[in-house]
Amino acid sequence: MEDNLPVNVREYQELAKKALPKMAYDYINGGAEDEHTLRENIAAYTRIILRPRVLVDVSKIDMSTTLLGYTMRSPIIVAPTGGHKLAHPEGEKATARAAASCNAIMVLSFSSSCKIEDVASSCNAIRFYQLYVYKNRNVSATLVRRAESCGFKALLLTVDTPMLEKGIFYPASISNRIYTAIEIGNLAPQTTQFEIRSIGDLNSGPFGTTQTNGSQLERFARATLDPSLSWKDIEWLKSITSMPIFLKGIVTAEDARRAVEAGVAGVIVSNHGARQLDYAPATIAALEEVVRAVAGAVPVLVDGGIRRGTDVFKALALGARAVMVGRPVFFGLAARGEAGARHVIEMLNGELEVAMALCGCRSVGEITRSHVMTEGDRIR
Ligand code: FNR
Repeated sequence: MEDNLPVNVREYQELAKKALPKMAYDYINGGAEDEHTLRENIAAYTRIILRPRVLVDVSKIDMSTTLLGYTMRSPIIVAPTGGHKLAHPEGEKATARAAASCNAIMVLSFSSSCKIEDVASSCNAIRFYQLYVYKNRNVSATLVRRAESCGFKALLLTVDTPMLEKGIFYPASISNRIYTAIEIGNLAPQTTQFEIRSIGDLNSGPFGTTQTNGSQLERFARATLDPSLSWKDIEWLKSITSMPIFLKGIVTAEDARRAVEAGVAGVIVSNHGARQLDYAPATIAALEEVVRAVAGAVPVLVDGGIRRGTDVFKALALGARAVMVGRPVFFGLAARGEAGARHVIEMLNGELEVAMALCGCRSVGEITRSHVMTEGDRIR
């Protein structure tokens, strides 16, 4: 092991800040508008207190869990985040190898900078694919089919992005440079019949006439993302794939119930890392409401603001089957490439193991609601 390795996610964030051009770091780290939800995603975890239990034989801790019948070494999944080549030239291939070496499931972003096929062939692992639905349904359908034929095991439909929040991507001068830099690998012309290779191509491409005052990215998003996507389209998605479908971006009981009615395989409590609707609830604060509404019908996952193993423990205590981690892995990749991304996952696993031991939990099944005290519990 190298000396002076970072010892926690915060130190990786500092290293990433030094390693990345300012605009790339700000893009990864940033949140929507006033960044209220961004701060709350993390702060809400700090307000949940652990209730340790003692004198339990914790000489063996088993962090493993299952999702869709797949066994994972721990309940930590790599969240889909676009454009990993911003952080490292190997992009998502490096992230995929890091996740695989930890036996962690990685969710590949629709906006990945590497092609689905290249990520799939980079190493053997269980992987999921994240989907945005484009107005041109063929674009999305083609990518779903490619993911399926590459052996991806599930589809995460992101439902909190009918259009893009603007704040992170302004001023346009900054976002234009970033989004010219991010090549959307899967839209390369040699692998699809579509003409857009990168957002930079929009200058001259078929979307060049779309009128907005914003950046190229906003133009791209307005031209491509389908804001009419609705519950009935879950049926369409089911008709084009046999992969189980998760909905990513549910934060209310109402939508959680509809998701179950729509027959999805799971629900992910997410606010897109606080990058879409500012003043949406912190995800850990919304988790219990969703868990109650789902009532065990399907697994509930949560992401947003997880920076410590104790955060993972808290999420499990409040009913999550597993968690997803976005920026921390991105920071690890930016700081130290594949080794950094792997180390971030390992550190979180290590912290979770200690939290479980100190709370007297030998397996994730032993983590219960009574191991945490929320603000609501204190008021009651
Ligand atoms: C994201 N996220 C995201 N989500 C998604 O469904 N598709 C995507 O392409 C992206 N891209 C993306 C890029 C970057 C730079 C970030 C930070 C996030 C959201 C992501 O899946 C996840 O919900 C959050 O990152 C979780 O919050 P934390 O762990 O970053 O706090």
